[in-house]
Amino acid sequence: MADRPGVLVLNGPNLNMLGVREPDIYGSETLDDIEAACTAEGEALGLAVDFRQSNDEGELVTWIQEAHENHAGIVINAGAFTHTSVALLDALSLVEPPVIEVHLSNIFAREEFRHHSYISPVAAGVICGFGAKGYILALQAMAPLVNANGGG
Ligand code: DQA
Repeated sequence: MADRPGVLVLNGPNLNMLGVREPDIYGSETLDDIEAACTAEGEALGLAVDFRQSNDEGELVTWIQEAHENHAGIVINAGAFTHTSVALLDALSLVEPPVIEVHLSNIFAREEFRHHSYISPVAAGVICGFGAKGYILALQAMAPLVNANGGG
């Protein structure tokens, strides 16, 4: 189904290490596991999921800029860049597709420096604290925003 709305699912630094990285905080699922779950959920919802990860802030900025033309929505877990990156905020501000922010952990129950997000002001919504399931919840929230027709 080439005409399904495309959703860019972006992952920031260190998320490639999921499964190994502090599993007590981030869970035991790997990023590959999360990608597979997102792809399957996307199919059920009528969305074409384009799942990517980078440790490079500039590469994430470029992908967000390109999403302006190429994707109907953006789901983003910007990792630590959430708390530091004006560049990601600026990129997300210039794109039209709706943005949903995801975090595996409940950032508000952790260190104070994680309580502030540069992404949240431009997000349609924020999902945090539900582990990998947060990505699925984000796709479910995204589907009506991009007029997907699930079930087919
Ligand atoms: C995170 C939370 C951030 O504070 C942290 O820097 C991450 C992961 C999460 O998914 O819980 O890298 O975005």
